[in-house]
Amino acid sequence: MITLDNVNLAYTAGDSLVPVLNGASLDVAQGQSVAIVGPSGSGKTSLFLVLTGLEKPDSGSVVFDGKQLHDLSSDARADIRRNSIGIVFQGFHLIPSLTACENVALPLDISGSKGARKQAAELLDRVGLGHRVHHYPNAMSGGERQRVAIARALIHKPALIVADEPTGNLDNQTGDAVADLLFNLNKENDATLLLVTHDPALAGRCQRQVRLHQGRLQSVESEQVI
Ligand SMILES: Nc1ncnc2c1ncn2[C@@H]1O[C@H](COP(=O)(O)OP(=O)(O)O)[C@@H](O)[C@H]1O
Ligand SMILES: [Mg+2]
Repeated sequence: MITLDNVNLAYTAGDSLVPVLNGASLDVAQGQSVAIVGPSGSGKTSLFLVLTGLEKPDSGSVVFDGKQLHDLSSDARADIRRNSIGIVFQGFHLIPSLTACENVALPLDISGSKGARKQAAELLDRVGLGHRVHHYPNAMSGGERQRVAIARALIHKPALIVADEPTGNLDNQTGDAVADLLFNLNKENDATLLLVTHDPALAGRCQRQVRLHQGRLQSVESEQVI
């Protein structure tokens, strides 16, 4: 479903180049769950930006559903994200002037679907926020905002779910509930699930674990994990 081949990415910072991805390759089948692990600064978020078409690599290819993502126009890439990809950003990226319900309904509103608000309220209930439907982001805790961001990423039943440390701000119980939701959708909809996590238990629930090390992806053997 998604294939990265020999992807290179460096950022410019002042006069210097910061290499982040250095020949990163990864092949993920439809419906697979994959944990991406690696220390802070190793490029996990950058990898997600590249594979969702938000950041163009310097070289290498990203093929999503048979299409060379970075050969498409930015509008075509946005269409793919709108229809097929749900992204949970590390910083949530909620719209402050919209309520939780309106934020979650947004992907459906944009595509003109009917019943967006009702579906959004139901999904908020599923992530334990039935009592926060009409709250604005700045009136919610970090963990609550994170669950709103997760609901917004899932509302259109995307074929690919990309979640950047989705349980990072949550207590164990809420984190487990959010993880259950991600894995349930992964199974129910045969959705591909890619997640960045520092939590070994959550990584262990994925079918595969890959580590980002020196700009490349390496398979993690299960006995190395704990
Ligand atoms: N827009 C940017 N400009 C310059 N350097 C960046 C930018 N974004 C990230 N970096 C640098 O790239 C490296 C990888 O960052 P990131 O992908 O966020 O890693 P991770 O998500 O694993 O913590 C870090 O050294 C970070 O400082
Ligand atoms: Mg990150």
